[in-house]
Amino acid sequence: MVRVLILNGSPRKKGNTLFLVNELADQLKAKDNYVKILHLNDYDIKPCQGCFWCYKDFPLQCIQEDVMNGLYPHTLEADVIIFASPIYWFNYSAQLKLFIDRLVALHVEGGHSFNGKKFASIFVYGDTNPQGSGVFTAIKSVEHMIHYFRGENLGTVHGTGGDDLTVKNNQKILDELGKLTRKIIS
Ligand SMILES: Cc1cc2nc3c(=O)[nH]c(=O)nc-3n(C[C@H](O)[C@H](O)[C@H](O)COP(=O)(O)O)c2cc1C
Repeated sequence: MVRVLILNGSPRKKGNTLFLVNELADQLKAKDNYVKILHLNDYDIKPCQGCFWCYKDFPLQCIQEDVMNGLYPHTLEADVIIFASPIYWFNYSAQLKLFIDRLVALHVEGGHSFNGKKFASIFVYGDTNPQGSGVFTAIKSVEHMIHYFRGENLGTVHGTGGDDLTVKNNQKILDELGKLTRKIIS
């Protein structure tokens, strides 16, 4: 059984990102894997203050008293973490960025608690041309992060969404999602 954590950075409950997130979760659960989805827009996550309190004795906690100290355990128990987000202004959403910045609190002596984990991403954008959408900036950013974590990148599923639920009828992106499911559980 693989333990998968999906970080959903989209605020839209009927949007393309959440549709793909739910599809992936259903496919993984159908094969008896454990899936936890964090809908980041539902949480009041404060921005990292850069105080480095978390570097003193590495408590795996943040000094700020918001939801994050309760969310960290979900990240620590996951074998695979999925970053899912719409592209907003040529990168992933602020909801996801706020969460990622707070991962600084999970450093340990000489490394980070995520060392050795597997990662993947799901990105949706409005532009019909991925080159113009900014998705490659988001992909690059996630690649840097996974390299820093000394993790394994299982890849990115991305495609055009828009205001309507366009991805639902996009067979290419659904096929890519199926491939990602197989990679996660292989
Ligand atoms: C604030 C904002 C910024 C956006 N910026 C971009 C962008 O830079 N590139 C792009 O291709 N689409 C952009 N879009 C369009 C969204 O990425 C697109 O509608 C996406 O499908 C939304 O995902 P969702 O259906 O999960 O909400 C933007 C939308 C919003 C609301």
